[in-house]
Amino acid sequence: MEENNVLIFDTTLRDGEQGAGATMTVDQKIDLAKQLELLGVDVLEAGFPVSSPGELESVRKIAQTVRKPIVCGLAHANPKAIDKAWEALQDAARPRIHIFLSTSDIHMLHQLRKDREEVLNMAQENVARAKKLCSDIEFSPMDATRSDPEYVYRLLEATIDAGATTVNIPDTVGYTTPEEFGKFIQNIRKNVRNIEKARISVHCHNDLGLAVANSLSAVKAGARQIECTVNGIGERAGNAAMEEVVMAMRTRKDFFGLATNIDTTQIYRTSRLVSEYTGFTIQPNKAIIGNNAFRHASGIHQDGILKDRSTYEIMDPQSVGWPGSMLVLGKLSGRHAFKKRLEDMGYNLTEEQLQKSFDAFKLVAEKKKEVTDRDLEALMKEERTNVPEIFKLEHIHVSCGTNEIPTATVSVLGPNGTVTDAAIGTGPVDAAYKAINKIVNVPASLQEYTVQSVTAGIDAVGDVTVRIEKNGMMYLGKGVDTDVIVASAKAYLNALNLLIAASGELPRPAYDLASVQSIPKKART
Ligand code: KIV
Ligand code: ZN
Repeated sequence: MEENNVLIFDTTLRDGEQGAGATMTVDQKIDLAKQLELLGVDVLEAGFPVSSPGELESVRKIAQTVRKPIVCGLAHANPKAIDKAWEALQDAARPRIHIFLSTSDIHMLHQLRKDREEVLNMAQENVARAKKLCSDIEFSPMDATRSDPEYVYRLLEATIDAGATTVNIPDTVGYTTPEEFGKFIQNIRKNVRNIEKARISVHCHNDLGLAVANSLSAVKAGARQIECTVNGIGERAGNAAMEEVVMAMRTRKDFFGLATNIDTTQIYRTSRLVSEYTGFTIQPNKAIIGNNAFRHASGIHQDGILKDRSTYEIMDPQSVGWPGSMLVLGKLSGRHAFKKRLEDMGYNLTEEQLQKSFDAFKLVAEKKKEVTDRDLEALMKEERTNVPEIFKLEHIHVSCGTNEIPTATVSVLGPNGTVTDAAIGTGPVDAAYKAINKIVNVPASLQEYTVQSVTAGIDAVGDVTVRIEKNGMMYLGKGVDTDVIVASAKAYLNALNLLIAASGELPRPAYDLASVQSIPKKART
């Protein structure tokens, strides 16, 4: 296969979401699927339908929503999983079933407890079965890089004969190295009799930090599909990062001679959306999309950049969609300018959302001279959480300092009206969260708390993310404010609101005013 187009198979919604703590809601998944369609991914792996009824429904909704990319559902090599995948994909404009089965001796012996012949028959039979439902079938010999290559060749031949049109070579545990993996792909092209009938794909994990290098070595050796995730999220150390493989092929076209169908100007937005929905912050030095990726700090570099950007910049930041102007709005900016700026940034809000976010913008602009695109993105995060405000922060006051006992007084508007309470804690945030716990009365454990400043400067907006856990489920909350204590309280209430909305039950009121009033006078003294 000598064509020079490499397909981008995005598995952010399947392998990416499988990573610990990366769970997204169905609405977020649909939103992200739409953004991936704008980005121009060729194949969108929407999920693993057999894993739960909720997952099946979310794959179905994505299949009904996006029309351009192939929508793919993952399945074990067994009839039930294949039927569920097909049930979810039926309405897709371009459906694909992706079947996987382990082929390494380690997996066959310890996990499948089957011998090589049994596994080969299972693979062939199930691919043939799926082919009757769907013409586009992908097969993955899981843990291929720790499998006997001769066995992998035989198995690929059998599955291509049975109807697989893409064969994907997973480095499931991130074990291989670029040179070795490139050779493996070359050998597959040499030794698999019918390989011309299928596209070779690769799927690399990042346990040794080599996922991108291994994927690129594979395309150099003839693979023509890369499976990857936005920001490299995924199981354990993650998968090959989409933005890195795409920009490497584009920036070094002279070396690779390959192209993709990705609209690279959508990379930044897609990356921020994934970070927002998963709560996984992007490290500042992350290639392509980290905050420092196009920042030049040393004197010599700054001097070079001022003379000619190409001295120290190999990519144009705008080619990956970095927002051009960073300073735009201030407290005198009107609703129209605010709306226009958001539209330029890709946010199309309803009138109600616009009014709410404009009010929030005005509050920030009162405290901050310049409201940057990054501040606006942070505000949008809060606006788009789509979590009903069952409990809303009305007021917070903290007192803390050296030799002080941190104390917080919090007022929250909830279903029973406004309730105020106070608590002490190890610090102001701890005290605030304890006061909120007394009011909201939903026991949950705080698993993660992070605060980030959205821009530099003493008046920067604080962006707080919290994760709380109840009955094995994680709930993500976001809060944004120039005051980090306010942002922290908002983020915690946002997570609690999500938990309450998800469980469908309101907590027992901490303060039952009716019962207080009915206590006999004597008993109250
Ligand atoms: O890593 C892996 O092997 C996988 C397969 C399901 C392709 O994710
Ligand atoms: Zn994987």
